[in-house]
Amino acid sequence: MEAFDKFYKKTVEERRAVLAEYANLNEEEQAFLASTGALSLDKANHMIENTVGIYSLPLGLGMNMLLNEKKYVVPMAMEEPSVVAAQSSGAKLIAQNGGMKGTATDRKMIGQVELINVPDVHVAKEKVIASREKLIAIANGAHPSLQKRGGGAVDLQVRTAKTVSEETLFIVHLLVDTKEAMGANMVNTMVETLAPELEILTDGTANMRILSNLVDEATATVTCRLSPLSLATKTQSGEWVRDRIIAAYEFADADIYRAATHNKGIMNGIDAVIMAFGNDWRAVEAASHAYAARTGSYKPMSKWSKDRQGYLVGELTLPMPVAFVGGSIGIHPIASLSKKIARVESAKELAMLVCAVGLTQNLAALKALVTEGIQRGHMSLQAKSLAMTAGANAHEIEQVAQFLQESKQLNVMAAKAYIATLRSKK
Ligand code: MEV
Repeated sequence: MEAFDKFYKKTVEERRAVLAEYANLNEEEQAFLASTGALSLDKANHMIENTVGIYSLPLGLGMNMLLNEKKYVVPMAMEEPSVVAAQSSGAKLIAQNGGMKGTATDRKMIGQVELINVPDVHVAKEKVIASREKLIAIANGAHPSLQKRGGGAVDLQVRTAKTVSEETLFIVHLLVDTKEAMGANMVNTMVETLAPELEILTDGTANMRILSNLVDEATATVTCRLSPLSLATKTQSGEWVRDRIIAAYEFADADIYRAATHNKGIMNGIDAVIMAFGNDWRAVEAASHAYAARTGSYKPMSKWSKDRQGYLVGELTLPMPVAFVGGSIGIHPIASLSKKIARVESAKELAMLVCAVGLTQNLAALKALVTEGIQRGHMSLQAKSLAMTAGANAHEIEQVAQFLQESKQLNVMAAKAYIATLRSKK
């Protein structure tokens, strides 16, 4: 990892050279990084309807991640300044404290069949449960290749829920081990295949037949533990910083307005990795927020506390419906590159890494917020964004950003006026 020392100080070309060596990238892969749209227009045209172009984002590398004793370079696709920098500094602090520990459950996706107009819910429930094995076999018949890969439908559960008009809904959950895939299509095919048999058994009508994005049977958990000493700043003791971070967590736990922002900071990291890996970030967002509200009230996704030795302990558990194969992963060249860069080998490992990035982001944000505030660290990148918004060209950006920071005028008007002055001098 020494090759990555002071990575942020290198030019884009120097960084690419370091990465090419580290990840053993061939010429084609290096060319993908050098292009502004690694995805070809031809592929893009086959991915969605009415394609007119390609939308690109910066791809950055988060440094210093240590998870389960393994070092990672983390690819992150992100438009927001400071997220990658926060990742590297937060991960460095956590690595100095022994790194992140992670676990992941076996991955079971949930398919739902909603049955309406079921005349006798109790009878229907008994019949469905008695036919469990047969129903699972029908579901697996719809996707035999998944069973050959060691996965497939593994369980079936019956749930009920009440509508506002007190009507009882009859819901069947099919649990599917999708192995390395996210499996949305497989699960949807299975529940559609199962629905007619469920209609016969329940005497009801199948209405909704679709995957649930609350994948609480496929979670990853990460934890970290930091000594107070490592949290100290020039002016604040480590114990003070630790207690303020815990207080920030308690604020999020008590107040939904703060919980939303606390969780947004976590998703800053999570989404960036999910995007870099060509995964479905809407699925991960939906799963994470639903999980945060699973008790009935919306809560912070992470928890910060202190242990008996006075160490700060951070924990994050989230459903993580990531895919390691399938979907756009095999299509988008950057998604395949991300696998090589991160040296991740399975969906479970990716799920843990994504959560580790989320918790790291959260620590970095909370530490900055309770100490110097978030704006100072953001200033230089924010100034660059403003310079670009105001129309500065590549060789003017640095100069304009420097002016904005020094004159403490972080606004587009000041940037435009300064650009005009610069140009008039030429
Ligand atoms: C900004 O994108 C994210 C933060 O607001 C997160 C937080 O407040 O915890 C800094």
